[in-house]
Amino acid sequence: MADTPSNPPSPLDPTPLGIPLVGEETSEMMRAAFPLRLGLVEGKVVIVTGAARGIGEAAARLFASEGAAVMVVDKDVAAAEAVVKEIRTRGGEATAFDADLTTEADVEAMVLSTVHAYGRVDCAFNNAGISGRFGSFLDLTLNEWQQMISINLTSVFLCMKYELAVMAVQGYGVIVNASSSAGIVGAPGLPHYTAAKHGVLGLTKCAAQEFAAKGVRVNAVLPGTTRTPTIEAYINGDPAVEQTLGRSVGRGFLGEASEVAEAAVWLCSDRASFVSGATLAVDGATTNR
Ligand SMILES: NC(=O)c1ccc[n+]([C@@H]2O[C@H](COP(=O)([O-])OP(=O)(O)OC[C@H]3O[C@@H](n4cnc5c(N)ncnc54)[C@H](O)[C@@H]3O)[C@@H](O)[C@H]2O)c1
Repeated sequence: MADTPSNPPSPLDPTPLGIPLVGEETSEMMRAAFPLRLGLVEGKVVIVTGAARGIGEAAARLFASEGAAVMVVDKDVAAAEAVVKEIRTRGGEATAFDADLTTEADVEAMVLSTVHAYGRVDCAFNNAGISGRFGSFLDLTLNEWQQMISINLTSVFLCMKYELAVMAVQGYGVIVNASSSAGIVGAPGLPHYTAAKHGVLGLTKCAAQEFAAKGVRVNAVLPGTTRTPTIEAYINGDPAVEQTLGRSVGRGFLGEASEVAEAAVWLCSDRASFVSGATLAVDGATTNR
């Protein structure tokens, strides 16, 4: 009988190219036939900063589900411990670490504790950051400027310094830094945030050059507006605000934390072995408009 709208083709019918689609049953057979398929970052040791919520939390969960042991670092240690508990409940490996990343001693302790717990540092996702107050350049106070630079730029420098020291000795390692769309274009009303995120790209490019021949890769992800607690607080349950924010994204709606996490995990994986010094926009075609 010919197909009619009331009798649509089964999903398992051949495609127009004559190639049969793979059904759930076939996928199960393939999984059974290849039981040794490993996670993207199987067996690696990863530090994720700002991992108690938002993009960092999504990344910590994804790194763990892709086979890594994860150091879940945040100044909100209670929330970091909750993330660790859930990762362990699902059979993953993770440890919470309490750090204020603007403090050099905390950053040094974070790296040393990771080596102590797991023996090395294969990868680091330096993600912790704040968004800051919107306002005119003229109203930005020196205090706001210094706080922004301290959290969004100096902390990344400190993390890289101690992570690179270990990675250079190991002869391998991967760092991914969280920049932003505001790392390559100006974000009106956020000059301090824009300056810090441009600075993160400077650190990324310098370190990528210096450590390339030592087996260490350094890259940055540049998220567009992504649904996280910070953005949810700004939306404050108002669909009109969410729509306006969504329209500022090239694809017309917000990014999800898990979508940024996917890029960070891939960059840390051996699949990205030839990628270093890259600034990867994860923004649904926003900054290339
Ligand atoms: N969400 C977005 O739309 C967006 C867009 C572009 C870039 N980014 C960047 O991505 C990163 C994550 O953003 P998010 O929206 O998930 O943030 P978030 O505010 O939801 O989470 C940030 C986490 O970092 C932690 N943190 C902040 N300062 C810290 C410090 N000094 N020491 C230790 N931990 C600290 C916080 O406790 C929090 O758990 C940030 O660097 C942010 O600038 C986010």
